[in-house]
Amino acid sequence: MIDPRLAIIDERLKKIKRIISVGSGKGGVGKSMVSSALALALSKKYKVGLLDLDFYGPSSHLILNAGNLYPEEKNGILPPKINKIKFMSIIYYTKDNPSPFKGADISNAIIELLAITIWHNLDFLIIDMPPGIGEEVLNVIHFMKKNEFIIVTTPSKLSWETVRKLLLLLKEIGVPIIGVVENMKFEKNDFIKNETEKFGIPYLGEIYFDAGIEKSIGNTSMLMNTNFGKKIEEIAESIANKGSIKHGLIRHSKSFK
Ligand SMILES: Nc1ncnc2c1ncn2[C@@H]1O[C@H](COP(=O)(O)OP(=O)(O)O)[C@@H](O)[C@H]1O
Ligand SMILES: [Mg+2]
Repeated sequence: MIDPRLAIIDERLKKIKRIISVGSGKGGVGKSMVSSALALALSKKYKVGLLDLDFYGPSSHLILNAGNLYPEEKNGILPPKINKIKFMSIIYYTKDNPSPFKGADISNAIIELLAITIWHNLDFLIIDMPPGIGEEVLNVIHFMKKNEFIIVTTPSKLSWETVRKLLLLLKEIGVPIIGVVENMKFEKNDFIKNETEKFGIPYLGEIYFDAGIEKSIGNTSMLMNTNFGKKIEEIAESIANKGSIKHGLIRHSKSFK
């Protein structure tokens, strides 16, 4: 049976040129920082939306200082604007309470959020994804046909091992992969770069551990002036100019059922 929400989501996302999901194998690697900084960098030249779908640890609202803004309801939900970015987060529904969602509820809430949010015209929608390859991630892939992925990893073999699985999955289902960002680097080392290139996937760059970024949480101009912010600007530039590499054939919904 065809899920009617699929058609609604297609309609909602129709006027968005590129949808870029920022994923990782595990949490705590810098997905939220990368997503927010990427949205900020791109918003200087483009129309940008940022959607925080990380039910496990929504944090983009803190980085952007958007916790006291609320969406407007108008035959759907209009995301509030912060620093030129249209921002939507699950936090608007869960408030500061621990998220009551579990398993299938999370997937349902994500689908619901995709179906009610009205983005209008956007050049880029950046999605701060939940970590890993759980059902929620598969659902986002399933419901958003236009999705491309950026993967964030730390230099650790442990982080890479989880990323490797995510990359295999994305290749298998034919999701375009823009490339891998290595974050929180602390010494010169080509391990992640070599592993990424073995996959035939672009290595987008390395970002060193930057003790200054903690102070910049909630202050976006300060964030974009850190080494972290400057590196993300470079990465944003190359993403805007290039595209993504597509592996294999897109398999449709049935593979997720
Ligand atoms: N390059 C970096 N240098 C220093 N701290 C970082 C860096 N990248 C991320 N952090 C910090 O690490 C923590 C986890 O980052 P976060 O973006 O929340 O990860 P995720 O969204 O993957 O769970 C946050 O406290 C963040 O400020
Ligand atoms: Mg996060």
